[in-house]
Amino acid sequence: MSDSIIFSPFQVKSFTIKNRIGVAPMTRMSSSSDSIPRQDVFDFLIRRAKNGAAIVYTEAIVTDYESAQGYPGQARMVTQRQIESWRPVVHAIQKEGSIAIMQMFHCGRMAWPEINPANRVIAPSAITPKQINPMTGEPYPVPDIMSQFDIDHVIVGFVETAKGAIEAGFDGIEIHGAHGYLINNFLSSYSNERSDAYGGSVENRFRFAHEVIQAVKKVTPDDRLLTFRISNWGVADMEVSLFNSKAEYQEIIKMLSKEPIDVISVSTYGYKDNAFSTDQNMAEITREVTDLPLMICGQIYDRTSAEDALKNADIILSAKSLLLNPDWVEDVRSKKQLPLYKSEEASVAYTDEPLP
Ligand SMILES: Cc1cc2nc3c(=O)[nH]c(=O)nc-3n(C[C@H](O)[C@H](O)[C@H](O)COP(=O)(O)O)c2cc1C
Repeated sequence: MSDSIIFSPFQVKSFTIKNRIGVAPMTRMSSSSDSIPRQDVFDFLIRRAKNGAAIVYTEAIVTDYESAQGYPGQARMVTQRQIESWRPVVHAIQKEGSIAIMQMFHCGRMAWPEINPANRVIAPSAITPKQINPMTGEPYPVPDIMSQFDIDHVIVGFVETAKGAIEAGFDGIEIHGAHGYLINNFLSSYSNERSDAYGGSVENRFRFAHEVIQAVKKVTPDDRLLTFRISNWGVADMEVSLFNSKAEYQEIIKMLSKEPIDVISVSTYGYKDNAFSTDQNMAEITREVTDLPLMICGQIYDRTSAEDALKNADIILSAKSLLLNPDWVEDVRSKKQLPLYKSEEASVAYTDEPLP
């Protein structure tokens, strides 16, 4: 037994989460044309549950066959075969006393048109990230400005994917509003210059997230969890603060807190880093304005950092440490000295080699 907060249970709705450690969502790009991940990628998730993680997030599942996909080999959850492929994985995770949550997203202006059958990139405004797309070696294509039809249509993709996850037995669904993808494109004035009801004021920029959450909630039974991931950074133009100020970010967190979500998951590059030129980190800034349970992620790699991060959050998520070390939960329990992995080391996630 351990007396650390890390190994104490946490209650969210009817779920008793057995400890405070979750596997962060990690895209693996292993699917073939059927949008079903490779068996060893499924096995990896099950093994993380077996080895003690209380929550296991899926890779980000793309929400449609038209414009949502940004990386090759991504998974979907809308055909019966896709749903059936996940069902035993979910069951195996639950058998270990862990909770399985499906993360879903639309890549928005980060999409790669050539791998989307409709060959489109759509976003709130016709603005591209400044950097080159590392996947193609080319600039990101200029997105089509989303019409009301596009907005309504894309929301259907989130709803259908959520229904797929419910059908597959997932305990929860995460709406990915972070990292510079579509929902985040709407939230941030860095990518949203609309002058209609979806742009301008913070409330207007929040409208798309609100509509997605409301629509997904309608198909999510009350005995499942709905989580929302947010970040102040995107995978392209990484140095840019996506929200203009602490006040603007907190306004969004306050709006999120009025939505029918159960948890806010805050993604940072480093959980300790001060944000918005303050002496507070993202978890502190978030907690100041919400009573919702909080997850925090970013450079939590050993027992000391996990305990420290839990001072301002309820659950920690780890990506690289759990990707590269199958025994991470036990190593944290036994206070083992552990490395802080570099981003380059995570590239094994995208090889054909099964991970331990
Ligand atoms: C291989 C890999 C794939 C990732 N894919 C996703 C993803 O699909 N969705 C997401 O929200 N974050 C994704 N991330 C970001 C992580 O969830 C996490 O926020 C980030 O790696 C920082 O956590 P860490 O310092 O523990 O690695 C990915 C990270 C890695 C290393």
